[in-house]
Amino acid sequence: MTDDNTRGLAGVVAAESALSFIDGAAGKLWYRGYDIHALARHASYLESVYLLWYDALPAAIELAAFEGTLAGQRALPLPVLDVLSGLPAESAPMAALRTAVSVLGQVDPESDDISHEADLRKAGRLVAQMPTIVGTFDRIRRGLDPIDPDPELDHAANFLYVRSGIRPSETAARALDTSWLLYLEHGLNASTFTTRVVASTLADMHSAITAGVSALKGPLHGGANEKAMEMLLEIGTAGDVQAFVDRALDEKQKIMGFGHRVYRTEDPRATHLRRMAEELSQEAGDARWYDVSRKLEEEMLERKGLYCNVDFYCATVYYSLGLPIDLFTPLFAIGRTAGWAAHVMEQHMHNRLIRPRAEYTGELDRPWVPIDRR
Ligand SMILES: CC(C)(COP(=O)(O)OP(=O)(O)OC[C@H]1O[C@@H](n2cnc3c(N)ncnc32)[C@H](O)[C@@H]1OP(=O)(O)O)[C@@H](O)C(=O)NCCC(=O)NCCS
Repeated sequence: MTDDNTRGLAGVVAAESALSFIDGAAGKLWYRGYDIHALARHASYLESVYLLWYDALPAAIELAAFEGTLAGQRALPLPVLDVLSGLPAESAPMAALRTAVSVLGQVDPESDDISHEADLRKAGRLVAQMPTIVGTFDRIRRGLDPIDPDPELDHAANFLYVRSGIRPSETAARALDTSWLLYLEHGLNASTFTTRVVASTLADMHSAITAGVSALKGPLHGGANEKAMEMLLEIGTAGDVQAFVDRALDEKQKIMGFGHRVYRTEDPRATHLRRMAEELSQEAGDARWYDVSRKLEEEMLERKGLYCNVDFYCATVYYSLGLPIDLFTPLFAIGRTAGWAAHVMEQHMHNRLIRPRAEYTGELDRPWVPIDRR
């Protein structure tokens, strides 16, 4: 039998990586050695992507060039627009994203080139195009025409614009940008591990990212931010939290947005999302969902000793931005794509096929029975 402690590969070191480090006991996270708190306060998402890919904070001129290159690559190739238009309007946006990334791989001019230089260029195109895919699909399913990306807008503002056709406030764009920064990279979580497994077969960047999107879809991973919001809506008010928790715990239900495989204290990303959720609800003059969240957080800590994770307050932040709930996980995917891509590049540069074994629990040497005697 496998050791119970290593079921789900908990605690197993499966790769070397210089991208991020999590101290789960202390609740600390670093990207390339930089504390997440410093980055969340001072850096932009694309500045952090640059750091991750090039292992250095960009100078102003380098950041401007990086942003400019990506801004010029946001438009979607026609085959991707055609596929998005042909999908049923009721398709889950995460499924639409998975399909669109796969199509992007088929039309990318460097699809099968896995040299580091080509990987960097493909990663840039993907980071530029993912927000356009999600925003465009959301328009198409509402019967609206796609909007061309605006190269004058920054990365997050452009997503909000291609979705709604309205140039967003600075606070809204900044909140979304910081949420992507916080989602950017987080070690060998399920989706990142998936992308590395795919990359380790020397498959290409788009194949690995398509697989990453697939792994993120589940409610125990990226899907948790959507489930967390549905739960807050079901609870309704801060006064209803206690009864909800009583019932959920009695029924041994998992409360979405709580608990973590690695953190044993507050998830440092949650600290910033809580602050942003509070700011946005103050700005909107409606603290209802923030109040429900705070109360639930207190109850879970007191009753189960469980802290909220990144997905919990992210739900309130995205809801306050007026975004539909089924876009929450695609938004996580948008932020994480650059992290997945960084892992694909690490894997391609120092590759060894990832191929673990399973503990066999079946029988051996069963006698063969011809089909007419079974
Ligand atoms: C993230 C998660 C999958 C981690 O799972 P894990 O490391 O396997 O942790 P376990 O499931 O072993 O949890 C340990 C204990 O805490 C409980 N627990 C963990 N998360 C819980 C939650 N969200 N709600 C209620 N109880 C929870 C488990 O039931 C278990 O209790 P037990 O020992 O009495 O059986 C899990 O906490 C979870 O499902 N959370 C909800 C989904 C979520 O928010 N995912 C996003 C993660 S960033």
